[in-house]
Amino acid sequence: MQRVTTKNGKNVEIREARVQDLDLLIEMYTTLSEKTLHFLRSNEFTPHEVREMYSRVNGEKVISIVAVNGEKIAGEARLIKYSKTSAEFGIIVHDLYQNRGIGQALLKKIIEVSKRKGVKRLIGFCTDENKVALHVYQKFGFKVEKVITNRYLPMGNGRVLRLSLRL
Ligand SMILES: CC(C)(COP(=O)(O)OP(=O)(O)OC[C@H]1O[C@@H](n2cnc3c(N)ncnc32)[C@H](O)[C@@H]1OP(=O)(O)O)[C@@H](O)C(=O)NCCC(=O)NCCS
Repeated sequence: MQRVTTKNGKNVEIREARVQDLDLLIEMYTTLSEKTLHFLRSNEFTPHEVREMYSRVNGEKVISIVAVNGEKIAGEARLIKYSKTSAEFGIIVHDLYQNRGIGQALLKKIIEVSKRKGVKRLIGFCTDENKVALHVYQKFGFKVEKVITNRYLPMGNGRVLRLSLRL
């Protein structure tokens, strides 16, 4: 467990998710704004879906890291191992907590956990209009390795960047 102080002075705990966090995760996912959802998908998350996503978290192949502020979950990052040495991650910070350093704290933890798990190639995706995600990922050394264009993609404007980091 790690404690970080956000840019506006709030104490946030960065740690692996626990079963007891499920209701708070549901609250976080089901109250995301349209603006945030736009970067992720076309429709809202349902409680059932969040439960199902969480049921895949096993601490080995699928790892969930949460940012906890008091009684709320401010953000979640998930690491999904594809193989012994490669993994994909995703990060979501709730609207009420964005732009305070939490996304970067979660990414730092994801990189730490990835190294510990023997990951050598870490992959992330974001739409090309997602300037904040792109800034954060590049700040940590990620390089754009592919532009995927498909107008049927459920997020953003149909242009998604695949970024990777060698660990
Ligand atoms: C992308 C996301 C995870 C970042 O988390 P966050 O907690 O808001 O980010 P942080 O506060 O840690 O960092 C934001 C950085 O972006 C910078 N930034 C803010 N607005 C920006 C803009 N319009 N263009 C470029 N950089 C910008 C900030 O200055 C800060 O960088 P700095 O510390 O170098 O100054 C979060 O905003 C989010 O969940 N967005 C919606 C979902 C999403 O896009 N997920 C990721 C893709 S799947």
